[in-house]
Amino acid sequence: MKRIQTIAEMKAICRQLTRRGKTLGFVPTMGALHEGHLSLVRASKSRCHATAVSIFVNPLQFGPAEDLSKYPRTLERDAGLLEDVGVDLLFVPTVDEMYPAGAKTYVQVEGLSGKLDGASRPGHFQGVATVVTKLFEIVRPDCAFFGQKDAVQVTVLRKLGSDLDMDVEIVVCPIVRERDGLAMSSRNVYLTPEQRQQALVLHRALMRLQISADQGESDAAKLSEIGQQVIAEEPGARLDYFAIVDPETLDPVVDVAPGALVAVAAYFGATRLIDNILITS
Ligand code: PAF
Repeated sequence: MKRIQTIAEMKAICRQLTRRGKTLGFVPTMGALHEGHLSLVRASKSRCHATAVSIFVNPLQFGPAEDLSKYPRTLERDAGLLEDVGVDLLFVPTVDEMYPAGAKTYVQVEGLSGKLDGASRPGHFQGVATVVTKLFEIVRPDCAFFGQKDAVQVTVLRKLGSDLDMDVEIVVCPIVRERDGLAMSSRNVYLTPEQRQQALVLHRALMRLQISADQGESDAAKLSEIGQQVIAEEPGARLDYFAIVDPETLDPVVDVAPGALVAVAAYFGATRLIDNILITS
């Protein structure tokens, strides 16, 4: 695995690969890797000749009161995991390399960026869209791999790719969960053992709602109430949002059909976690 720090070198090596007729898969990350990230790498390796991963804790996507300074940084451990799983290129730019003094361009996906997580985290998706646009331009991958856990991010990035006619296929991989149902997240390390137990309520609420949908309930207001009731039974959870939406527009649905996105965000102590399902019946 080759480790690269500069944009110029990353561009040169990626262009060389594609000139030689190799397809390039790309997994952008902020590090603190877990099995969810590794599943994206495996998906990339199964589809593309070569796989590039970036590790960059992107300051643009953190609000002033968020966890930028304490976000887990575990570069050497991450590099070992990526080496073991067979990554070809690891791109680890510095903040100055990505955003040199005087950089003035931001990418905004109007409308979508202000919904759900975007409403709770103003500016977050502008930061995500900006860094992903830059990374795509540096790597120019054939396919880029993202986790369904960040469902709103997936919606925003799909729209970004299609609006800007980007020559990249966005591949979305399923949520990877711990054995007890907790969705894997780099932020799970912030949880105390007690909060980690409390956080299981997110998956429980989504599963309860899916069961009701399986039993024929399709009224979004009723299903939402069922899910929110489960969350309300856990005093350690502070709900941010619970929503049933169209996964393309992120607008609320009235009648829940297969494919509807049920997304939830809640705080456990100071840690904000997200989870979601796509309704299957
Ligand atoms: O999902 C993430 O880890 C980040 O939002 C991403 C896509 C790497 C952009 O910084």
